[in-house]
Amino acid sequence: MDARITLGEGLNAPDYVQHKGVLEWVSSMVALCKPAAVHWCDGSTQEYDALCNLLVNNGTFQRLNPAKRPNSYLACSDPSDVARVEDRTYICSEHQDDAGPTNNWMAPTQMRETLKPLFDGCMAGRTMYVVPFSMGPLGSPIAHIGIELSDSAYVAVNQRIMTRMGRAVFDVLGTDGEFVPCVHSVGAPLLPGSTDVKWPCNPTKYIVHFPQTREIWSYGSGYGGNALLGKKCLALRIASTMGRAAAHDGAPGWLAEHMLILGVTNPQGRKYHIAAAFPSACGKTNFSMLVPPESFKGWNVSTIGDDIAWIKPGVDGRMRAINPEAGYFGVAPGTNYHTNPNCMASLNRDVIFTNVALTDDGDVWWEGMEKDSGSLPAHLIDWQGKDWTPALARETGAKAAHPNARFTVAATNNPALDAAWDDPQGVPLDAFIFGGRRSTTVPLVTQAHNWVEGVYMAATMGSETTAAATGAQGVVRRDPFAMLPFTGYNMSDYFQHWLNMGKKLGHTGVTLPAIFCVNWFRKGEDGKFVWPGYGENMRVLKWMIDRLEGKASGVDNGLGISPAYDEMQWEGLDFDTRAFARVTDMDKTDWAQEIALHTALFAQLAHHLPPELSTTQRALQQRLAA
Ligand code: GTP
Ligand code: SPV
Ligand code: MN
Repeated sequence: MDARITLGEGLNAPDYVQHKGVLEWVSSMVALCKPAAVHWCDGSTQEYDALCNLLVNNGTFQRLNPAKRPNSYLACSDPSDVARVEDRTYICSEHQDDAGPTNNWMAPTQMRETLKPLFDGCMAGRTMYVVPFSMGPLGSPIAHIGIELSDSAYVAVNQRIMTRMGRAVFDVLGTDGEFVPCVHSVGAPLLPGSTDVKWPCNPTKYIVHFPQTREIWSYGSGYGGNALLGKKCLALRIASTMGRAAAHDGAPGWLAEHMLILGVTNPQGRKYHIAAAFPSACGKTNFSMLVPPESFKGWNVSTIGDDIAWIKPGVDGRMRAINPEAGYFGVAPGTNYHTNPNCMASLNRDVIFTNVALTDDGDVWWEGMEKDSGSLPAHLIDWQGKDWTPALARETGAKAAHPNARFTVAATNNPALDAAWDDPQGVPLDAFIFGGRRSTTVPLVTQAHNWVEGVYMAATMGSETTAAATGAQGVVRRDPFAMLPFTGYNMSDYFQHWLNMGKKLGHTGVTLPAIFCVNWFRKGEDGKFVWPGYGENMRVLKWMIDRLEGKASGVDNGLGISPAYDEMQWEGLDFDTRAFARVTDMDKTDWAQEIALHTALFAQLAHHLPPELSTTQRALQQRLAA
């Protein structure tokens, strides 16, 4: 296709696409990327099935045994393309200050110059899929529309599960609706005569955001958040900048957060809604699908979202949260009927698995499933296509599934899905939870004294890194609000936005959501987690609700309010006061070191750092020293 293409020519656009801006943009991207064909996704089942068949024929997908796992597929990626690439992720705002010290930055013009030769002809020999999607319920005033142009059919089928994808998006867009243009290429043109590989990608990777023009460009990776551009790129990085831009004068703006949203109903039928931020692979999916222990009769937990929350003030001034996604892209390893039965039930059919192992009878397997079956399978094909046996695993530590192996599944597969999960009004929030993965220092649960101190807790959160991003694992890094890799603008400005929202909504007289910080991950001297976690986290959830209802006075641990042993419901769990002390005590030496790390973070973020945070730190320091 040549560069002088006229509008609509060769685009193969369906009649229902009447948006001039879309046609012009697709046209120019076709001229740049030079695909062999253009396919406009309509989002139908027939199309999904046809694309899955194509992926099976290409070798990207393996169809799983329909008797075991109906309508499900396994994809195994290139070993070099298994997680988000944070060091290749850029926020290209006009001014470096607006990206801030925690984001990679390049001047937009320079980045455009860098990307142009990479995208020039990058789709040669491949089909460009035009993937229209809505983040949030279709047509809802709080939804945002994106169109992803991708040369990956894997992306197209995943997007159909993860978003509201297809023809109806164009009805909403009409002739001039707003959309976020997202261009994605695996960066592997198929030259004439060459044969394709099952997971094309490129060692050079760029995940680029232009916040001013609200564009996303992704090159070189086909995996997860690098490639499914509605998720981290649009719904977090771009949306966070939108939420802040919407704040002016009296308008509070809104928040795009790395949070699950759950509903919890007590035996009296009173329902609370909680949004919780945990870094990647630290338990959001698990927590959002929590099944209470048997002793919690009459309690129910339901899922609104498992990864992303958009939070806007409602007409009543309360913070209301929606889940902009329509599916889950969740971590497979560690998931089993003990840790997350609702999740396992969600995965019975209609799933795309990526980088898990294949059993001899055509089903999937990952580390952690042995807890259900009682034994390891005698033989598997691992995620890299190699034979795996328990003996090999014992000798070499070989993992059958990649630690960041994931499933893609529709929210509607979840038996615990909340009835209001796609209510465009969102659910009113009663509390926020912030949790990191910390083997020491941070206690099981602490309620912040007030909004500002809650923002301080969230801002200074630390977490041991996980397999969800490439790089060193298990190192403690500061991960403010679990948003370090996802805030599309300056982190200090982001803190200020949180403080401002509290101030503005506080003035309207509504009660702001309470803020708690939690840590499920304290370890004992034996190196094992002390807190049993998973469903048992209900005990912490109940204490929080008791706090909201004024039924628990708690004790002040200097940081905030934490539970007295007797305030927790222990029935059905053997957890004595000594174990409780191990997950709740505040070690003075540890905390002196911890505060020093907060100081280091604040030094890094000094430019624009809200003064309230330094004031809070001084007060905290005094309280902890007392
Ligand atoms: P992203 O999708 O990457 O944003 O992450 P997520 O927060 O949804 O992660 P997920 O719920 O899939 O977390 C999976 C990891 O957290 C696994 O290693 C689990 O074993 C671990 N995990 C989840 N809940 C708990 C818990 O209550 N206690 C402990 N110790 N580990 C947990
Ligand atoms: C995360 O890493 O926080 C995820 C997975 O939710 S991905 O979509 O790949 O970013
Ligand atoms: Mn996530």
